[in-house]
Amino acid sequence: MSYYHGNESGHIPGKLDDTWWEGGAMFMAIILYYKYAGDSTYNKETIQGMQHQAGDCDYLPSNYSSWLGNDDQMFWGLAAMTGAEVNFPNSADGYSWLALAQGVFNNQVGRWDTTSCNGGMRWQMWSYESGYTMKNTIANAGLFQLAARLARYTNNQTYYDWAEKIWDWSATTPLLSNSTWNVADSTETTNDCATQGDNQWTYNYGAYLMGAAYMYNQTNGTTARTKWLTAINGLLNVTFDTFFPTKYGGNVMSEITCEPTEVCDRDEIIFKGLLANWLFFTAMLVPSTYSRILPKLQGSAEGAAASCTGYSNSSCGVRWNSSWDGWSGLEEQMSVLNLFVANLLPYVSASDSPLTSSTGGNSTSDPSAGTSDSTDDEETLSTITTGDRVGAAFITIILVAMSVGSVVWMIAL
Ligand SMILES: *[C@@H]1O[C@H](CO)[C@@H](O)[C@H](O)[C@H]1NC(C)=O
Ligand SMILES: *[C@@H]1O[C@H](CO)[C@@H](O)[C@H](O)[C@H]1NC(C)=O
Ligand SMILES: *[C@@H]1O[C@H](CO)[C@@H](O)[C@H](O)[C@H]1NC(C)=O
Ligand SMILES: *[C@@H]1O[C@H](CO)[C@@H](O)[C@H](O)[C@H]1NC(C)=O
Ligand SMILES: *[C@@H]1O[C@H](CO)[C@@H](O)[C@H](O)[C@H]1NC(C)=O
Ligand SMILES: *[C@@H]1O[C@H](CO)[C@@H](O)[C@H](O)[C@H]1NC(C)=O
Ligand SMILES: *[C@@H]1O[C@H](CO)[C@@H](O)[C@H](O)[C@H]1NC(C)=O
Ligand SMILES: *[C@@H]1O[C@H](CO)[C@@H](O)[C@H](O)[C@H]1NC(C)=O
Ligand SMILES: *[C@@H]1O[C@H](CO)[C@@H](O)[C@H](O)[C@H]1NC(C)=O
Repeated sequence: MSYYHGNESGHIPGKLDDTWWEGGAMFMAIILYYKYAGDSTYNKETIQGMQHQAGDCDYLPSNYSSWLGNDDQMFWGLAAMTGAEVNFPNSADGYSWLALAQGVFNNQVGRWDTTSCNGGMRWQMWSYESGYTMKNTIANAGLFQLAARLARYTNNQTYYDWAEKIWDWSATTPLLSNSTWNVADSTETTNDCATQGDNQWTYNYGAYLMGAAYMYNQTNGTTARTKWLTAINGLLNVTFDTFFPTKYGGNVMSEITCEPTEVCDRDEIIFKGLLANWLFFTAMLVPSTYSRILPKLQGSAEGAAASCTGYSNSSCGVRWNSSWDGWSGLEEQMSVLNLFVANLLPYVSASDSPLTSSTGGNSTSDPSAGTSDSTDDEETLSTITTGDRVGAAFITIILVAMSVGSVVWMIAL
């Protein structure tokens, strides 16, 4: 939290420099820290930031809504959902945590896109954003997970049906294989989701795994349970084989796509912590996975603890093996915080599992949250959309002119 200044005068609550989604991921980590480590020191800043960025109960604040991805908004929705599930203290005068999660869900399903690939969420929200032609795993697995968690919390069939629909759709695309349990990163709408952007990321596996764990936990009947349990075991196997390399002894998590070459960007540094968090919940919700998950969390934590020795002030690096790798920052600390909280697994009891409205969760439901998005967002959006389109066209023209120019110049040489 020493990296967070949003609660200080002259700063914007909940907003981190040059990133919006990370604020949601950060508060999610703090909420879990509050619940499982029992330290409420940062609750005030968390409530303030989570409410300030709430928009019209949909996490689409007009300052940023014109350049957001579905995944960005979704992370704030998952943070709010986490707040509901652990009875995180409510804001005295703001939205309930459950209503915020419902608002994100309602807003996102409105963008479920059937114009290509028979469904799916696009990565970006608006057509002028680069990445709009992509359908990616985190946007889809994230909404799947949010729907599954809302279903379990509220026992409302609509959320359950959406979760199942998003999962089943994912399995028709290269994003999720329900035979090899490979989870790709992205696919393209321009060829009707034939492409498989197959970079391997911890959080993509974790996002599907976590949602499947919630589905399993709330499903009755052998057939349905088998569907989710098969998925959970399949995803766990590939997750362990892929991200716990034998060169680190097999129990230390590694972000294999960027870590060995030391090129992880600030977003990517957060992913391992998210997987740790989602493994923690999976072990609670699917008791048969507990004994397989615990050694992976413990091995990673031992490695991370040994490596969080930077600057003699417990700065953590990116790599969680043996010695500090020289990296430091908010993202590194966030990831390891998530990992250490997940290591409280042996100390939690059944009553510490995510709550539902029938097991003591008392966050107020608002099934139509976020649907009365007050006009300012929409107006701001349509104005900016037009402006940005024109701007983007100008930039394209300039770039084309420049590349033509440089070709001519090269030929001239
Ligand atoms: C901001 O929060 C920190 C705790 O993270 C606290 O120490 C500090 O006093 C707060 N500052 C303001 C201006 O509220
Ligand atoms: C939007 O920007 C204004 C001006 O910088 C700021 O006062 C406000 O807090 C911002 N709102 C959000 C939700 O970040
Ligand atoms: C499973 O059973 C519980 C308790 O009987 C019930 O509340 C819940 O709605 C059922 N879930 C499904 C998906 O049928
Ligand atoms: C996962 O791995 C376990 C242990 O290695 C094995 O017993 C099981 O058959 C595998 N399950 C799947 C679905 O691949
Ligand atoms: C990672 O840690 C293990 C156990 O401490 C050690 O045996 C191994 O050499 C380390 N590997 C690297 C690449 O640092
Ligand atoms: C669902 O999760 C609860 C809480 O962790 C656990 O006690 C229960 O056994 C789980 N249900 C199933 C069917 O695994
Ligand atoms: C640790 O020290 C480094 C170097 O002085 C500094 O940049 C960083 O903010 C410190 N971290 C914490 C958590 O205080
Ligand atoms: C929900 O329960 C918690 C205790 O678990 C309590 O502190 C809080 O006031 C309750 N909130 C509402 C809205 O009833
Ligand atoms: C269940 O959720 C749907 C979708 O948000 C909503 O339309 C419906 O009113 C909800 N039903 C109940 C009983 O809350």
